[in-house]
This record gives sequence, structure tokens and C-alpha cells, in this order.
Amino acid sequence: METTMTDVTIVGLGPMGVTLAELMLRAGKSVTLWNRSAGKAAPLVARGAMLAQTPAEAISASPVSLIILFDYAAADAVLKSAGVAKVLRGRLLANLGTGSPEDAKAAAAYIEGNAGQYLDGAIQAAPSQMGQADTPILIGGKQAVFDEAQPLLKILGGKLVYLGDRIEAAAVMDLSTLSYVYGAYAGFLHGVRVAEASGISVERFGAIVNDISPSFGAFFQHQGAVIQSGDFAITESPLRISIPAVDRILRVSERLGINTELPALVNGWLQEAKTAGLADQELAALIKVLRDRERQPVLA
Ligand SMILES: NC(=O)c1ccc[n+]([C@@H]2O[C@H](COP(=O)([O-])OP(=O)(O)OC[C@H]3O[C@@H](n4cnc5c(N)ncnc54)[C@H](OP(=O)(O)O)[C@@H]3O)[C@@H](O)[C@H]2O)c1
Repeated sequence: METTMTDVTIVGLGPMGVTLAELMLRAGKSVTLWNRSAGKAAPLVARGAMLAQTPAEAISASPVSLIILFDYAAADAVLKSAGVAKVLRGRLLANLGTGSPEDAKAAAAYIEGNAGQYLDGAIQAAPSQMGQADTPILIGGKQAVFDEAQPLLKILGGKLVYLGDRIEAAAVMDLSTLSYVYGAYAGFLHGVRVAEASGISVERFGAIVNDISPSFGAFFQHQGAVIQSGDFAITESPLRISIPAVDRILRVSERLGINTELPALVNGWLQEAKTAGLADQELAALIKVLRDRERQPVLA
């Protein structure tokens, strides 16, 4: 590999890119930056970072480049800008922005097609949470490439989760974790409506959700293991408990005159599970209803 000038290059200076650059500088790494709006680099340049004039100059300046742009369309435009293809040989690039599995595969094909090495990542934290021992970053790609980038990536998040050599693994897992987050958020909003309509403090509700979240995290970990094993014998929570619980949420919501879409959805799944004779299995057996519906989509 030809001589490089700095330890790491950061391409993209949105809130997350600025944070990554700050963490690298704080860890004593020499840093090259590139951003479409060059002005955003000024405070970092004042702290010793180098500012490249073009993406090609930036990527050639370091053995490892971290791409942290709004989306993969922006990353694609940057990677296909003048001169970049020629400097990819022997360079390691990791895109830590949010994208789809297809985005990750296309980026890998382009970078590896130009003799570069590629990792695809997904950050599971906000900028203010970066650089901590428990900051989670998901990474997929070849093990040897991950091993090479690991010391630098550890500076950004102590909880690096290597998901194996499938390049799209982080993007897939990001979709799964975000599905959980938005599903929980939908439940949170329904809980807010129940509390509001009943004259109970919503702020208090938020605090209680915070208190119960660690034990529910452990519960979901267990449910994931049950579904993976395919053994739905009751070990924690029988499905039969949830049938009247969700039915009650639906009936009370109707009486309160609030939106009922969410409890009606989950109630429909549970009633179907009951009809299918799953009541005396672990709650995780509800996954069978979803799988079954996918095989036999309900016609409108
Ligand atoms: N912020 C968070 O909480 C968070 C958490 C996890 C993951 N992420 C992910 O991290 C990535 C970056 O997020 P961010 O919060 O730093 O800010 P962002 O608003 O998502 O991205 C801003 C960056 O993208 C650049 N950009 C946008 N369109 C471009 C284009 N067409 N060509 C070249 N550059 C372009 C911006 O350049 P200019 O400065 O010139 O506009 C800036 O560098 C995203 O994929 C995001 O989903 C963010």
C-alpha cells in the first residue's frame, strides 16, 4: 500500500460525522475530512484535522475511510465522483450510514470491484451516545477486514457487534431493531392515549416505561431464543395470558373512545392463535400466526 498521511478519513460531517471525527481526534488519531459543505470542517481543522478538497484526495489520505452520509445515494455519488475508483485499491472503506441490504451489496460490489475492502455498518445510537463502552455498532463483512478495522471502530463504540461475512447483515439487523423500536413506539403512543383519556399522567407513564424496559429487553431476548429453537413449550409466558389482556385493552379503548387500531391488530393475531390451538404454548408461538398469514394472504 502506498504511504498514507493520516490514520482515518471521515467522509460526511452531519451531526454523526462530526461526532466520529471528534472521537478520533480525542483518541489521538490523525484525521482527514471531506464534506460537500466544506465550511463544516473548520472547527475540526482548528483541532488538527486535515481537510481534503475532493473525495478521492480524502480516501487516498488514509488506510481506512468511514462514510457517514445522509443515505447510500449520497455515498454512491461521492464514491463515483472523479478519481475515487483509482484510489480504492488497498483501501478499507466502511459505510456506517443507514441503508437497505441492497444498498450494502451494491456498495460492496463497487468498492471490491475496484480492489478496495468493504465493511457495512449501522450505528444504533445517537451522536451524544457515541464513544461509550456500551455504544452498539453493527458490522457485517469479511472477518479479516473487520479485524483490521476493529481498533478504530472500537473508538466509536465499545459494543461492536460483528454479524458475520454477509455484507448486508448490519442493514438487515438495523431493519429488525428499528421494527422493534417503531412497534414499541406505536404501543407507547397507544398507552399515552389510554393514560390521557383516563386522566393519568403521561409523564409518569414515560418514567414507568423506562423502569420496565430492562426486564422487557431480557424477555425479548428469551422470546428470540425460543423462536430460533422452534420449541414453543411454555418456559416464561403462556400465550393464553395475553389473549384476555389484549382483549381488555381493546374493549377499554373502545369505551374510552380512543383509537383502537393497534390493540385490534394484536387482538386479531391472538384470536387466530387461540383458534389454531396455540393458547397453551409460549407467547412466542404467535410468530406462527404471522408466518401462516404470509403463506395464505387474506384476500381483500
Ligand atoms: N444522527 C443520528 O442520531 C444517527 C443515528 C444513527 C445513524 N445515523 C445515520 O448516520 C448517517 C448520517 O447522519 P447525520 O445525523 O450525521 O446527518 P444526515 O443529515 O443524515 O447527513 C448529513 C451528511 O450527509 C451529507 N449529504 C447529504 N446529501 C448529500 C449528497 N447528495 N451528496 C453529498 N453529501 C450529502 C451532508 O453534507 P452537507 O453537510 O454538505 O449537507 C452531511 O455530510 C445517516 O445515514 C443516519 O441515518 C444517524
